[in-house]
Amino acid sequence: MGVLGAAGGMRRAHAAALTALAALLLLLLARHAPAPPPRRPRPLHLPPAPHVTPPAAPAASLAHNTTTHAPTPAPTPAPPPRDPRIILTRDVYVAGHERPHPELCPALGARLQLLVLVTSAPSHASARDAVRLTWGHYASRSDVALAFVLGAPPAALRPAIDAEDSLYGDLIVGRSIDSYSNLTLKTLSMLEWADTYCPRAPRLLKTDDDMFINVPRLLKFATAPNRVNATKTIWGKVVKKSLPKRTTKSKYYVSPLQFPGKVFPDFATGPAYLVSGDAIRTLLGAAGGERYLRLEDVFVTGVLAARLKISRVHSAEFYNRKVAPHPCAVQRGIAIHMVRYHEQFDLWRKLLDGKTKCAS
Ligand SMILES: *[C@@H]1O[C@H](CO)[C@@H](O)[C@H](O)[C@H]1NC(C)=O
Ligand SMILES: *[C@@H]1O[C@H](CO)[C@@H](O)[C@H](O)[C@H]1NC(C)=O
Ligand SMILES: *[C@@H]1O[C@H](CO)[C@@H](O)[C@H](O)[C@H]1NC(C)=O
Repeated sequence: MGVLGAAGGMRRAHAAALTALAALLLLLLARHAPAPPPRRPRPLHLPPAPHVTPPAAPAASLAHNTTTHAPTPAPTPAPPPRDPRIILTRDVYVAGHERPHPELCPALGARLQLLVLVTSAPSHASARDAVRLTWGHYASRSDVALAFVLGAPPAALRPAIDAEDSLYGDLIVGRSIDSYSNLTLKTLSMLEWADTYCPRAPRLLKTDDDMFINVPRLLKFATAPNRVNATKTIWGKVVKKSLPKRTTKSKYYVSPLQFPGKVFPDFATGPAYLVSGDAIRTLLGAAGGERYLRLEDVFVTGVLAARLKISRVHSAEFYNRKVAPHPCAVQRGIAIHMVRYHEQFDLWRKLLDGKTKCAS
């Protein structure tokens, strides 16, 4: 308006021509100007590159030289404006892995019955040791693969992580910073790894480093005739009609911006859940556009699964809580929660003691 106003008594036709010229100039500028810088460090778009061929490092496939691209198509109309306080998952998730270890899943998982991914924090070295020395032994089966999934460690812990990984080679390290409020990002990093490096594994167990997993029982569960061919399914301890905590004092506080609904969709609790392999790609694909929710289990097995019509199936064998370590309880369950270092060895012995007779 200012330019035209300054032109004073200019005729209407001249004004129209000027406006058209200005619009053209703006359009040209918009087409050639570099994309505006991202608001956060390297937020990359989900889902990751497809995996039809054995994968290269995913970061490479995403780091295209944008200046060599074919002429960019006409700008698509801007999406309806959203409340700037709403954070979408794609705004915060950093894709890729700084330690991908593709070799942990030979043949992209074609020979596996079960992929077990254990989320862990960089500082939890002794918890990982306890898993390796007990139930983690099942990873020596050719049909089971196991690895730990960590977020990016702080600089002070990098030497220890390097040393641990060169000893065991079982640490998958993502690119989002490892922190409690980033648990959801760690789970997405896990799903991304499974999708990129192990897409043919029929089942993925997501679990944590303070869990005891009865792997033979889990294999029996996963391969039972009524489950072996199931698709689009998550099995675990399913919680129904759970309410978001709206008091800011709660460890599980969720703001109405993060989750506007009144009741969470049914979800499988985070300590251990089993996912059918086909569901992983669809979960990842839908994650980016969803509001970021830091309750990883509600987000992945509730919000995303409900949107994608992935069934959540409850099984009492996923205790997902601390249980009295009676040998029969250990032998009949799949997943026990809140297991400390020394308790892993106690549970492991009770699983394998070979003398307790339990009614199946
Ligand atoms: C991207 O491509 C352009 C044109 O080919 C080239 O001049 C530039 O150096 C490239 N940049 C990178 C980072 O490879
Ligand atoms: C991830 O963790 C870092 C460090 O605690 C924090 O700055 C960042 O906001 C977290 N990201 C999300 C999405 O919570
Ligand atoms: C599962 O699918 C496989 C391959 O299609 C088939 O051979 C097998 O009989 C199916 N098992 C059950 C229990 O339906």
